[in-house]
Amino acid sequence: MKVAVFSTKPYDQEYFERYASSEDLHFTYFDSPLNKDTANLSAGFEAICVFVNDTVDKETIDLLAGHGVGLIALRCAGYNNVDLDAAKEKNIKLVRVPAYSPEAVAEHAVALILTLNRKTHKAYNRVREGNFSLNKLLGFNLHGKTVGVIGTGKIGATFCGIMKGFGCNVIAYDLYPSEELKCQGVEYRPLEDVFKEADIISLHCPLNPDTKHIINKSSLEMMKDGIMIINTSRGALINTPDIIDGLANKKVGFLGIDVYEQEENLFFKDLSEMIIEDDLILRLSSYPNVLITSHQAYFTREAMEEITLTTMKNIKEFCSGSTLTNEVI
Ligand code: NAI
Repeated sequence: MKVAVFSTKPYDQEYFERYASSEDLHFTYFDSPLNKDTANLSAGFEAICVFVNDTVDKETIDLLAGHGVGLIALRCAGYNNVDLDAAKEKNIKLVRVPAYSPEAVAEHAVALILTLNRKTHKAYNRVREGNFSLNKLLGFNLHGKTVGVIGTGKIGATFCGIMKGFGCNVIAYDLYPSEELKCQGVEYRPLEDVFKEADIISLHCPLNPDTKHIINKSSLEMMKDGIMIINTSRGALINTPDIIDGLANKKVGFLGIDVYEQEENLFFKDLSEMIIEDDLILRLSSYPNVLITSHQAYFTREAMEEITLTTMKNIKEFCSGSTLTNEVI
């Protein structure tokens, strides 16, 4: 089967090519993201493969259908960038990689917390320049702090376990509390209580109409002064102008984000020689207590392998007409 892979980076190609020949799949790699302007590249392909920042809206899906594409294989878990109704209407199947490595994302959330707190990024630069001063590097013990987790699915649950290991008091909110986590000492609380009681809040819920801008002016007002907010889930969980106000008035003490609402114009690209025309990210980057990584939480060897193998399995199931194990319905 011929598959067009959009938004390809060298590391995606490397992993796909490692396994492609043994699976009788033929991949063609496009650097460009998928959107209505690039959808015509799908001509002649039965399946396409996309990632988090491809725009799979109705207009794009209509064009894909016109070219005879029957399968959209997401090489990620979230599918907030796909118009599900439009895909259904055109009878295009949609598959995803539901869990490639909850540990990779949970561990990255912890890396953001530790870096923001203990300022190892600043210490690294200082020591390299012969500055051995400890001024302004003061951190706090994680032990005994209250960590609020919003969304305790695969990643959130893994994160809860790690934070329990640090000796934190873990409180959580999810529409479907986990009995297993309760047994491990995670306390489920109403969302407002999590906002009010946590010293650190980490977001691990999906982006949907209920969770969009879950961190906004009114939720920030409920939080402790100096709150640390970590978002490795989806950018639009946070209202960016509201969090910038929170940083300016010192309500927010630390912000660690691996995702950003307008990331599709920036992330995964080397823009170091360009003028960045996004005032919000420039403003965020100007705060010393903000740490931004460009959607790299998933990026481990283990996760890349799982993404590649599951995507290939998903496509092969479609080829053979088998039940689609990872179909998004
Ligand atoms: P999951 O589906 O296992 O867990 C999501 C949890 O959120 C579920 O327990 C669900 O009940 C809960 N939830 C749904 N609506 C909620 C609401 N309104 N309030 C509170 N909880 C709610 O998903 P998983 O694998 O844990 O992934 C979580 C998110 O992480 C994904 O949706 C994706 O956006 C993001 N992600 C980010 C990556 C990165 O590299 N930064 C990589 C992979 C996923």
